[in-house]
Amino acid sequence: MAQSNLYSRVIGTGSYLPADRVTNQDLADRLAKQGVETSDEWIVARTGIHARHFAAPNETTSDLALHASRNAIEAAGIDPDSIDLIIVATSTPDFVFPSTACLLQNKLGIKNGGAAFDIQAVCSGFAYAVATADSFIRGGMNRTALVVGAETFSRILDFNDRTTCVLFGDGAGAVILQASDEPGVLSSALHADGSHSSILCTPGNVNKGVIEGSAFLHMDGQAVFKLAVKVLEKVAVEALEKARLTPGDIDWLIPHQANIRIMESTAKKLHVPLERMVVTVGEHGNTSAASIPLALDVAVRDGRIKRGQHVLIEGVGGGFTWGASVIRY
Ligand code: UT7
Repeated sequence: MAQSNLYSRVIGTGSYLPADRVTNQDLADRLAKQGVETSDEWIVARTGIHARHFAAPNETTSDLALHASRNAIEAAGIDPDSIDLIIVATSTPDFVFPSTACLLQNKLGIKNGGAAFDIQAVCSGFAYAVATADSFIRGGMNRTALVVGAETFSRILDFNDRTTCVLFGDGAGAVILQASDEPGVLSSALHADGSHSSILCTPGNVNKGVIEGSAFLHMDGQAVFKLAVKVLEKVAVEALEKARLTPGDIDWLIPHQANIRIMESTAKKLHVPLERMVVTVGEHGNTSAASIPLALDVAVRDGRIKRGQHVLIEGVGGGFTWGASVIRY
């Protein structure tokens, strides 16, 4: 039974980046060997990215999720067995099935029979996962949720396509959301428009033991750019209105970290000063569903985000999907 004064609050955050840090120059040197031309100057000027991390050959999405989850559980100071809901937002799961969330539950040694499932909303995945976990908790279905964004996009990058392979990286971020009488997640808004599915996709499937279509990421960068700028501002305003707040009430804006130009443009449209935006795209690249919880954890751990402050998260990505949440930290 839903209680009107029941909220979900962030009680811990965590993140993890694989050890292999690849600078733009490292990547340009690697690509040059196969006749693909790019440069640090181009990547920095067009995206703001300086480096990204790539998972080791034997490292899977659930491995990255495990490290980030352990950090979040430690920060929250909870017994892992109190987690009765695990949601992993990912587009690069370990397997077709079982879900990465079930694999993660097992790796964490949780044997309480709580629910576990993946959310597939590409770069909006973490926004979708937070809204879902918040609804489950406020509805009284669950009490303590582990919400993770984890990706190994390096596995679906075509390193012969310079328009996409320089943009993405691997990583994971996690939060623990727990039922509370005190406000935490104040509002969420989620949207999708499947008519734009072809502008950002990995259009392959497994059929009779072989991959049919393409297992590589394809993107019409300019189409994604234009749509992203349009929808991000709208969904941010929608989430703020639902929370009865204005952009002036926002202490920290944490956008999906795809491209510094998109991020700055959204912040300007919302009249949020750039110094109140958390920026990790330079060091992480675009880690899809992991980018928002990674940035959140960075800013919590370096002391920028403090208890009681208002944080606006917003994501946009393949589907086309987009979403935002206002969180009182
Ligand atoms: O996470 C999901 C959301 N995804 C995004 O938000 C991505 C959105 N899109 C973007 O961020 C940008 O569109 C890109 C960064 C992907 C591309 O930036 P752009 O300013 O739209 O560049 P462009 O596609 O117009 O390409 C400009 C030029 C082209 O050469 P010509 O035709 O002008 O001679 C490209 O061939 O840059 C060339 N180019 C490159 N040059 C060096 C494209 N990729 C590269 C590269 N290195 N890696």
